[in-house]
Amino acid sequence: MSRTLVICKPDAVERGYVGEIFDRFERKGLRLAAAELRTLDTETLGQHYAEHVGKPFYDSLVAFMSRSPAMVAVVEGPDDTYAIVRTLMGPTNPAEAPPGTIRGDLGTELTENLVHGSDSEESAKREIGIFFPSLA
Ligand code: RTP
Ligand code: MG
Repeated sequence: MSRTLVICKPDAVERGYVGEIFDRFERKGLRLAAAELRTLDTETLGQHYAEHVGKPFYDSLVAFMSRSPAMVAVVEGPDDTYAIVRTLMGPTNPAEAPPGTIRGDLGTELTENLVHGSDSEESAKREIGIFFPSLA
């Protein structure tokens, strides 16, 4: 068993796609271990997106991610659940994401790409520790 962090980003909450996104994870066979609607602050986003601090898109990423509530969740399933979630999400740029993926079916914009999923087991542990320390 393993767990990963998922965030339905503000665009997904604004557009009413939280149920659609979680439905895809649940139909695949994954389960929710925790979920909460939260407005993310700059400091928390700096920890979460530490690898991107200083990049040209960082300020617009933080402005987007903090503009309205996000649904932050822990998803669990078999080993390497993070990889299953990333497959269901599709590539970062929705314009290049294939049909059948969350980003491919529901989005067009690079920054506003609906969903976050941890990119490794190590990232999953680190990110769950930021948002749900009692589960870390
Ligand atoms: P995420 O961390 O949100 O799950 O997305 P990811 O792994 O697929 O992509 P990553 O490279 O970690 O980028 C994090 C988020 O930053 C925004 N982004 N904007 N304008 C740009 O060039 C650009 N590049 C990345 C996206 O919201 C991306 O998901
Ligand atoms: Mg990433």
